[in-house]
Amino acid sequence: GKSGYEHFMLKEIHEQPTALRQCLSGRLDRLSGDVTVEDIGDLETPVRVQLVACGTSYHAALYGAQRFREVGIPAQAFLASEYATAPPPVDESLVIGVTQSGETADTLSALRAAKGRGAETLAVTNVVGSTAARECDHVMYIRSGPEIGVAATKTFSSQLVSLSLLIESVAPGVDSERTRALVESLWRLAGNVQSVLDNSLDDIEELVDELSGSDAYFFIGRGYNAPVALEGALKFKEITYEHAEGFPAGELKHGPLALVTENTPVFALVTGDDAAARKTLGNIKEVQARGAPVVVVTDGVLEVERFADVVLRVPETDGLVGPLLVNVQLQLIAYEMAAHLNREIDKPRNLAKSVTVE
Ligand code: F6R
Repeated sequence: GKSGYEHFMLKEIHEQPTALRQCLSGRLDRLSGDVTVEDIGDLETPVRVQLVACGTSYHAALYGAQRFREVGIPAQAFLASEYATAPPPVDESLVIGVTQSGETADTLSALRAAKGRGAETLAVTNVVGSTAARECDHVMYIRSGPEIGVAATKTFSSQLVSLSLLIESVAPGVDSERTRALVESLWRLAGNVQSVLDNSLDDIEELVDELSGSDAYFFIGRGYNAPVALEGALKFKEITYEHAEGFPAGELKHGPLALVTENTPVFALVTGDDAAARKTLGNIKEVQARGAPVVVVTDGVLEVERFADVVLRVPETDGLVGPLLVNVQLQLIAYEMAAHLNREIDKPRNLAKSVTVE
């Protein structure tokens, strides 16, 4: 059942601290900073990585590809449905299928194609014994527990964490200080997600009330917040049926800015104080100049008040983990807007939980 929640989606959003603890259980040694993923015991450090996925899982794959590149492993994410046009995997490539259900037709067929071309394959999945788990050479379970709501929530968070763990475990010791910071922030992650869940509902209800009826909703972010901007928009459009688009913030002035008016709220995602975060502030100024209402979702490391009509704060944490907290905030916003509009949240029109045709 829904354990007292009005929808499975809300229940699953609130299950994230537990899901993340399960995902991390036995894989993280806080003292030594070691990460061990027993599922993939014999997997060697890949020379090159391709990730294939659809929808929300593709956004996790984009995050994963960025993380691999950061530790020096060339990696690229592909939409599984477009994998036919990807460069063929070279020797010692690892092709990772990121798929919650393990049954998505496009992802299975991309994985089969990769295998056919001689690549080693790994399924990162939630469902034990799923087709992807059975067909791939290796499997890593994200351990979210069953997800009933059509809109993926807790499984996205667990995918981000699983990919992070995978990278630390197959490419250890690249930057020990970085690893230590990551391990520490993963250790605190469930608590930080809980605090996002505990704090925000009243603010969000008010915000949603104010913003509903807008022409469209935009989500912008850079670096690790770019896939989260895409995911924020996907979740929003999926369950509210309102027009929403996510962009890497730098792309705004290459087209989408033409759509920005006083009637298109912009959600800007800013964590840490790196170049990506600072440049996002510049992009916020551009949308402010067009009169768009700006909601900044931030850890508060940079001073954003004068850039924002509304600031939603998430706890300050490591740069790799902050975007995950931002995403939880965006899940709540999408949920509240859909509830406000009386949408059928757990089964949005035209959508299915598992897409088994190409
Ligand atoms: C969106 C959503 C879908 C899935 C996609 C892939 O909320 O759930 O976009 O992410 O259909 O599904 P899996 O991960 O099962 O391959």
